Amino acid sequence: MSDTFEILNRRLKTSPFMVQGEVVKGFGRGSKELGIPTANFPEIVVKDIPSELSAGVYYGWSRVDNGEIYKMVLSIGWNPFYKNEKKSMETHILHEFDSDFYGSTLRIVMTGYIRPELNFGSLTELVDAIKNDIAIAQSSLEKSDHISHRFLEFIQKEI
Ligand SMILES: Cc1cc2nc3c(=O)[nH]c(=O)nc-3n(C[C@H](O)[C@H](O)[C@H](O)COP(=O)(O)O)c2cc1C
Repeated sequence: MSDTFEILNRRLKTSPFMVQGEVVKGFGRGSKELGIPTANFPEIVVKDIPSELSAGVYYGWSRVDNGEIYKMVLSIGWNPFYKNEKKSMETHILHEFDSDFYGSTLRIVMTGYIRPELNFGSLTELVDAIKNDIAIAQSSLEKSDHISHRFLEFIQKEI
C-alpha cells in the first residue's frame, strides 16, 4: 500500500472531511457517456478543499437536502481522461434517483480513500475502474468505523 493510501485513510478515519454545497451542472458526461451520474459542487466549494486531500477517489456518506442518507463515491481532481482544466468534485450517490437535483443542497462526509485519479486508454476502462470503486465503497461502508460517521450531527441534522 502506498503512503498516500495509509495517510489519507488514517486522517479520514479520525477526522472525516465534511462538505456542504449546492449541486451545479457539470459537463453532463457522467450520466450520458458513462451511465454513472454525478453531482458536482460549485468552484468555490472545490477551492476550499485542503490540499492534503489529494486528487483521487474517496467514499463516504451523502444526503440531498433532508432526504435519506446514502453511500457515495467521490472523485476529486481534473479527470485526466477528459483533460479538464478546472478541478472538480463529483459525487456518485449509490442510489437511483427519479430525477436530477440541481440546486439542491448536497452534504457529504468523506470517510475513506481508494486511489489516485488515473488516465485510461478507453471509456470502458474508465467505467470499469469506477464500477470497482463503487464496489469498494459499498463494502467498506458496511464496516463499523465507517458506519459510525453516518451518525455525525453534520449530516443527521435537518437543514
Ligand atoms: C468514483 C469515480 C471515479 C472516477 N475516476 C476517474 C479517474 O480515475 N480518471 C478520470 O479521468 N476521471 C475519473 N472520474 C470522473 C469521470 O471522468 C467524470 O465523472 C466524468 O467526466 C463525468 O463528468 P461530468 O458529469 O462533469 O461530465 C471518476 C468519477 C467517479 C464518480
